[in-house]
Amino acid sequence: MTNTTFTPDSIASFAEAYPEKPNKLRHDLCDHPLLQLPALVELATQLRSDHVEYNQGDLPIGINPKDVPKPTLDVEETIRSIEESGSWMALKFIENIPEYQKLLVDTLSAIEPAVRGKTGEMIKLEGFIFVSSPGAVTPFHFDPEHNILLQIRGNKVLTMFPAEDENIVPPQDHESFAYGEHHRNLEWRDDISALGSPMALTAGEALFVPVKMPHWVQNGPDVSISLSVTWRSEWSVAESDARALNALLRQVGISPAAPGRWPANNAGKSIAFRALRKAGITKVARSMMS
Ligand SMILES: [Fe+2]
Repeated sequence: MTNTTFTPDSIASFAEAYPEKPNKLRHDLCDHPLLQLPALVELATQLRSDHVEYNQGDLPIGINPKDVPKPTLDVEETIRSIEESGSWMALKFIENIPEYQKLLVDTLSAIEPAVRGKTGEMIKLEGFIFVSSPGAVTPFHFDPEHNILLQIRGNKVLTMFPAEDENIVPPQDHESFAYGEHHRNLEWRDDISALGSPMALTAGEALFVPVKMPHWVQNGPDVSISLSVTWRSEWSVAESDARALNALLRQVGISPAAPGRWPANNAGKSIAFRALRKAGITKVARSMMS
């Protein structure tokens, strides 16, 4: 059966834009029963507790992770009172629940040929659902996945920044991120504000967000529900390996060149890093870092 989540025009424009340019798509999932608030309360109770993250919504665009206040409501109360609670929550790795895994795989099936043709096999499919109160802000950050964000209810504005600008994200941040040692939130400076491009999303629209493209999110005046369908690719894994290798090179006093964005091929550094990892050398080097 052909999947009709995205319109044919959307799939064509995505195929053109992928993997470097943000791209708007249209989708038909707004009324999907698994994406309504009652189903999401149920989902929050089924997921592992560390896969349910919730935060207060009135945070500044840039915030140090240690300054993020602890939530005062439990997860079910947060969802049920989302209209008043001024918060946002993330239901993470929804593919661990079979119905949601099917939704994720079905949604991505229509764009899979376009992905494979450019960045290689689509791997590590993961899904996230964000439920946000009116006006909630998700601080400035980047994500390690290729991502399509489908707006299910309400609206929001994503302000996106150039992915390759080292003035926005220094290479050292990329390198520690490759080792899982960097919090997702990035340092915000007011002087980079003018480099952002705001993109508005309403229910029924989706936005393709290129891998590691920095962004922050401002929710509109209503409750928002968004579904994020993500994947890694042979290309994105190689880029991450190259960053990890660069971290090791920096430790021994070399200033390595940053891996290129697509279509640059980072396979050489990736192969070198994997060989070092196999030999156990990255573990030793990593323990020297901390
Ligand atoms: Fe994000």
